[in-house]
Amino acid sequence: METIAALKHISFGYEKNVPILKDISLEIKKGEIVGLAGGNGSGKSTLLKIMAGFISDYRGTVHIAEAVMENLACVIDGSAVFEDLSVGHNLEMITKMSKNAEGRKPDEDLIDLLDLRKYYRRKASKLSLGNQQKLALCMALHQDTALALLDEPFNGLDPMSKARLLHYLKQRADSGMSILMTSHIRGDLELLCDRLIEIEKTGEKQA
Ligand SMILES: Nc1ncnc2c1ncn2[C@@H]1O[C@H](COP(=O)(O)OP(=O)(O)OP(=O)(O)O)[C@@H](O)[C@H]1O
Ligand SMILES: [Mg+2]
Repeated sequence: METIAALKHISFGYEKNVPILKDISLEIKKGEIVGLAGGNGSGKSTLLKIMAGFISDYRGTVHIAEAVMENLACVIDGSAVFEDLSVGHNLEMITKMSKNAEGRKPDEDLIDLLDLRKYYRRKASKLSLGNQQKLALCMALHQDTALALLDEPFNGLDPMSKARLLHYLKQRADSGMSILMTSHIRGDLELLCDRLIEIEKTGEKQA
């Protein structure tokens, strides 16, 4: 099975002598859903940020093909929605900002599934927490993505929306999209993921 992402011996700390990630290696195959588990502050979001290219001064290697990186879907730490734009304009921006305008259209099925269409004219900043999360998911999970990095994707979602998203992600993985995701709810990870990776808490600076 094709490897979509390979991380070897990743170590990182935001500050000198305060290691956060210590020698993490992992591989994600095509169509695989991998869960990252670990307590608060163990470095799950940090690892996703390294993979997304937001952090570059780590040790070790990250191999993700350029074509995959260009079409990466990521929802990390609530992620980028343009707060002053309407939901509709936010979704349009995704297509406009991308090189590959055809493939990078938001997935209309997901917009309907998460019931976001009725908020099209509302400013993103005026959405409820759950609806902001839905917008971030719809903006990230466009049609052409081969790899999705999802940090707490179910945060703020009501049970019905969560069940729908779960089903949607399983379907996308069945058609070849790979997913690396975090959740604090072990049961969610166990339900959705083919495999779990536990990140151990290493160092944390005392306040
Ligand atoms: N920008 C930053 N500068 C300095 N330290 C940071 C920064 N971001 C995170 N940290 C620290 O790095 C450690 C790992 O944080 P991270 O957000 O990756 O953990 P997490 O596993 O995602 O936690 P949670 O489960 O709470 O989301 C924490 O000790 C955190 O305080
Ligand atoms: Mg986190």
